[in-house]
Amino acid sequence: VFRNKLEFFAAAKISSSFPPPTIPEIAFAGVSNVGKSSLLNALTRQWGVVRTSDKPGLTQTINFFRLASKMCLVDLPGYGFAYAKDEVKESWQELVKEYVSTRVGLERVCLLVHTKRGMKPLDYELVDLMERSKTRYQIVLTKTDLVFPIDVARRAMEIQESLKKNKCVINPVMMASSKTGAGIRNLRGVLGKLARF
Ligand code: GTP
Ligand code: MG
Repeated sequence: VFRNKLEFFAAAKISSSFPPPTIPEIAFAGVSNVGKSSLLNALTRQWGVVRTSDKPGLTQTINFFRLASKMCLVDLPGYGFAYAKDEVKESWQELVKEYVSTRVGLERVCLLVHTKRGMKPLDYELVDLMERSKTRYQIVLTKTDLVFPIDVARRAMEIQESLKKNKCVINPVMMASSKTGAGIRNLRGVLGKLARF
């Protein structure tokens, strides 16, 4: 499915402008700068369709991309970004929360976690919300190229342990580097199963 052409088709700042849910959707959530947009590019090998940046807070709307009529990939704005004005921060967080807890056809949320930094309070907040709304999610460690493999494994174990009582989490914790491509094929394999054929 990831070989299909990636096509941007909608951006939303408020839930009333979400496109009608017609195909299985996978969303990418996580703190600002964790590598959400980069991961979409790496998964599809289509660089430049999704914009990325060194500066946190680039993605400010919920962006919908489709792979033919098989799957919809959703790039969410990052949360916890320190420099944004409080009211802007709040409105993005509320939008992301509303999206993950109410969106019809949302098959999976990939919650991206920076391998070096681990899970933040806002990540756990989102996890609790997804548990309450029965949204299936999985943890994807990002930027694994920045740490030693042993530290990646330790981080994965620590997170899996912290979520072991949760019901909607899909194990195991996965790991990826958009820079080196490590783990990307595995992730394609797991997410590809959610596509419509
Ligand atoms: P927001 O849209 O601000 O929430 O950020 P984002 O999560 O979409 O992050 P983005 O993909 O824009 O990447 C942020 C920065 O991290 C960019 O400078 C990327 O080049 C870098 N980056 C992304 N993935 C990796 C990775 O796997 N390894 C390394 N070393 N850097 C990465
Ligand atoms: Mg982004």
